[in-house]
Amino acid sequence: MPVLENWLPPSRENWELVSYLWRFFPLVTTIQWLVDFYPQGKTSITSSLNIPGKIAWATMEAPGFMILVYIVYTLPARLGMGVTSLPLANWIMVLLFVIHYIYRALLAPLVFNPTMSPIHVLVWAAALVFQICNALSIGGWLGGYGPVSDADWTAMRYGYWMPLGLVVWAVGFAGNVFHDEHLRQIRRGASGAVKNERSEFDKAGGQRESDGRNGSQTTTEDKPEEKVQGESQRTEELETSVKNEKNEKNERSEKRKKVDKVYVMPHSGLFRVILYPHYLCEWIEWTGYWMMTGFTCVPARSFLLNEISTMFPRALQGKRWYVERFGREKVGARRAVIPGVV
Ligand SMILES: NC(=O)c1ccc[n+]([C@@H]2O[C@H](COP(=O)([O-])OP(=O)(O)OC[C@H]3O[C@@H](n4cnc5c(N)ncnc54)[C@H](OP(=O)(O)O)[C@@H]3O)[C@@H](O)[C@H]2O)c1
Repeated sequence: MPVLENWLPPSRENWELVSYLWRFFPLVTTIQWLVDFYPQGKTSITSSLNIPGKIAWATMEAPGFMILVYIVYTLPARLGMGVTSLPLANWIMVLLFVIHYIYRALLAPLVFNPTMSPIHVLVWAAALVFQICNALSIGGWLGGYGPVSDADWTAMRYGYWMPLGLVVWAVGFAGNVFHDEHLRQIRRGASGAVKNERSEFDKAGGQRESDGRNGSQTTTEDKPEEKVQGESQRTEELETSVKNEKNEKNERSEKRKKVDKVYVMPHSGLFRVILYPHYLCEWIEWTGYWMMTGFTCVPARSFLLNEISTMFPRALQGKRWYVERFGREKVGARRAVIPGVV
């Protein structure tokens, strides 16, 4: 029973339409070259339309692999085939996609990452649309509109490309996780320092708070002449004291916000030569994925090119951010995302 008639799973016409339009996604990303507004991560902003980072990452990334799995399980029956009739190679490709997104959508944000900056609903929605289009496109290909027999795969010379692509995919995935992990370590270290700083600060703040309260009590109780002053002066004093307390609270919450987002110059692995090695490794990973199909799978190619088209300007923007934040000297000869090039 299809969930959304002709969409989940997609009819051939709808799949062809999405897969065709999906090729033009890089045109949409030209906006990233023109506008620096990207309210996520390092460049997140304060907004009532923000979604907490961890929830945003999980909810925008998880639908992709779920839709893909749903399509692969339901499309074959629609096409008059049994789901078990799909060749092993299709299932290997499904598995790799699922492994990546279980890591990216569930483990990374919900289990491994200590903190993540909030994401604006606009970025969240764009990422969700990306996931849906990509899942329809690759899922349709794997679920029955692409190769459906070993003979189909043989025609794609998969005996040669599949193992090679698999190795490239694995190297890319490992590199992506490794460099993500380095950033997490920085954050964990920073979070530890933040906790200390917070508890120090809270202690100091608590002290100030109780000092303030005691101070005002002491004033009114220990100085009898103040008791004879008019009621209005007491009210004024009370108002001033409340205002001061509010200011202190705001100051504390501002300081909390500042210490929550601690950024450090990363230095491990490829971070020595580029600032976004996790991006580069992800591109290597999906190049391997496309390679596994003997470079014949158009949806896998679109996925790779679409990722590059949106992540490349983001990495360049990130480099500008690093230079602004840490200075040209500290960034040194590091490129944004391709060693020695850009
Ligand atoms: N962004 C995309 O368009 C996109 C698309 C597809 C896949 N991905 C993949 O998703 C993963 C995360 O991407 P991203 O764009 O969020 O990467 P990112 O900006 O480098 O951030 C990754 C994580 O590390 C933290 N972080 C980054 N730089 C740091 C530093 N110098 N010091 C301390 N902590 C730092 C971030 O904290 P904050 O959140 O607080 O900044 C965030 O939690 C990557 O592996 C990437 O390949 C990203």
